[in-house]
Amino acid sequence: MLAKKRVKDKLIIGIESTCDETSIALVKNGTDVIYELTLSQVKKHAKFGGVVPELAAREHIKNFKYLGNKFFVKIKDSLDDVTAIAVAAKIGLPPAVSVGEAYATGISKALNKPLIKINHVLAHIWGVWVDPEFIVKPDFPFLGLIVSGGHTILAKFTSPTEYKILGQTVDDAAGETFDKVARVLELGYPGGPVIEQIARTGDEFAYKFPVPLKDSDDYNFSFSGLKTAVRYFIEKNKHMVPGYMLKYFKADVAASFQYAILSALVNKVKKAIDDTGIKTVVIGGGVAANQRLVDLLAQSTNGVALYVPHLKYTGDNAALIAGYAYNFV
Ligand code: KG4
Ligand code: ZN
Repeated sequence: MLAKKRVKDKLIIGIESTCDETSIALVKNGTDVIYELTLSQVKKHAKFGGVVPELAAREHIKNFKYLGNKFFVKIKDSLDDVTAIAVAAKIGLPPAVSVGEAYATGISKALNKPLIKINHVLAHIWGVWVDPEFIVKPDFPFLGLIVSGGHTILAKFTSPTEYKILGQTVDDAAGETFDKVARVLELGYPGGPVIEQIARTGDEFAYKFPVPLKDSDDYNFSFSGLKTAVRYFIEKNKHMVPGYMLKYFKADVAASFQYAILSALVNKVKKAIDDTGIKTVVIGGGVAANQRLVDLLAQSTNGVALYVPHLKYTGDNAALIAGYAYNFV
């Protein structure tokens, strides 16, 4: 009897520094996270109301030094078995991306292993694959919704690397809109989590904000009009709200805004399901951490398998990069 040929494991080191997370990970066969370390710089940028690219780059240099020391001590026995180094090479803040690229290039040369450049926006779809709680991974084809700070994309994936973009934002991204509205509401940065939190105490039907393209006959999104409408509304009404009521006013505005932007996302996903007949939906990117989005999607997509990674794998993380890179080795 012929012995079954053993398929060699593929071990990939991932490097992520596209925005304000410094992250390094070792992932086996695209799904098994062996070790990962991530440092968030969010507190450093919060006082500026958003990510400052040069500051992010400086912090990445410092953080990679610190995380790298720890990481390579821990994985030293696996180094010979490493297949490749994957780096989030686009799309992000250029000074921050360059730090990760230089660091990954150094590792690739030192270990004499190939360097794979990964589009981190696409890698956001890979959260469910590296999340150990999803033992069963999504079937292809699926509809992928990538909602991050810089991108809003609805695509049909026929394989991990083959996809057709059905629609995307024509102006601001969903995460960016959360951040900008949070700034107008003086809630701090990053806007998504604070808006979600305060919205829990508000009434999402208190105010009706318009969302351009929400019901258009395509799959595109437009959020800049919504942001402006919310800003004008606040400027017009804020001074009429007594001080002790301000937090309730903000909660209602946050909840109504959140409902408007999330409904726009949900409507287009629903339309794509109806039009394509595809009944598997995978979401990723920072905004996928929003529980109200998940609830609204679940409510309006009956009979659809909805895959949402846990918080850790919605945002930027090197495990996504190393995991997704498996599809290119
Ligand atoms: O994917 P990500 O970590 O980084 C980019 O590639 O941009 O996404 C960050 C974005 C930020 O705009 C942040 O406000 C948003 O994701 N975000 C959220 C939530 N958590 C993070 N938006 C809505 N609700 C949340 N819970
Ligand atoms: Zn990202």
